[in-house]
Amino acid sequence: MGLRKILTDKEPALHKVCKPVVNFDAKLFKLLDDMKETLQDANGVGLAAPQVGILRRVVLVDTGEEVLELVNPELLETDGEQEGAEGCLSVPGKYGLVKRPYYAKVRAQDRHGEWFECEGEELIARCFCHELDHLDGIVYTEVMERFLTEEELEAGE
Ligand code: NI
Repeated sequence: MGLRKILTDKEPALHKVCKPVVNFDAKLFKLLDDMKETLQDANGVGLAAPQVGILRRVVLVDTGEEVLELVNPELLETDGEQEGAEGCLSVPGKYGLVKRPYYAKVRAQDRHGEWFECEGEELIARCFCHELDHLDGIVYTEVMERFLTEEELEAGE
């Protein structure tokens, strides 16, 4: 176990397309365990491997009930639309207004390489889209409409 350093969006690693995971081995388990510890320490909802400097297709999403480990995730289906505040551990202290699907279904491999599907609405769907974007080198600030102002944040969006 160990905390990893979360990179900011000024680092080149946040803007690269990540490679698929091919080895489901102890190194991957360690990465997933470290990412979980790092995510929980930072009180985040999601974390992508490039945020800790690893250019592989791995993300974590905390649904509130469990921390999903998504290896080589793909967006299968989306529906509807939502517009709301979005933040990122790599863009500390800021929030942007981002349009995302209201619903998203994802297919991914677990740490042993088994494929599974998961789905979510609202915050979970937003998080799936945000984290999968990270794997293609996209930070939300590149797809947002604008940053939210202090007044909007104090008013609760
Ligand atoms: Ni992020």
